Amino acid sequence: MKKLFVSTVVIATALMACKGSKETASTTPAAPLDCTSKVITYTADIKPIMENNCTKCHNTNNKAGYNFLTLESVKKAAESGHLLGTIKHEKGFKGMPYFAGKLDQSSIDKVECWIKNGMKE
Ligand code: HEC
Repeated sequence: MKKLFVSTVVIATALMACKGSKETASTTPAAPLDCTSKVITYTADIKPIMENNCTKCHNTNNKAGYNFLTLESVKKAAESGHLLGTIKHEKGFKGMPYFAGKLDQSSIDKVECWIKNGMKE
């Protein structure tokens, strides 16, 4: 019984050491999105995405507190993290668009880079 306990500790320590070295080698499992050369604006890129996918529900009715016909509302959702959380279907958020699957990856990337690059109008 004691032997079993010791070997368990040894294996656990080895696993932890292994995990530790892996984390220093590569910081994150998925490479972060590279937005450096991307020029994305609200008017040209984000507004059409919202109008095609979101504003039939989130309009002047202010559903869930958002009127995505306005830049102000899109910024509010972006700054709180809810815009990306919902369109990426992250844990703890309602997946948006509601009941209609997920946006295509290129639209999700556009929204992410728009936010990363300072939400240009
Ligand atoms: C079919 C209608 C519909 C569409 C389309 C839709 N939503 Fe929603 N959305 C809702 C409803 C209803 C809620 C409230 C959900 C609840 O609280 O159960 C909501 C809630 C939200 C919330 C707040 C909830 C949270 O977890 O933060 C955000 C942010 C949001 N929607 C973003 C979007 C975005 C962005 C799009 C477009 C990509 C979108 N929605 C498309 C109906 C819709």
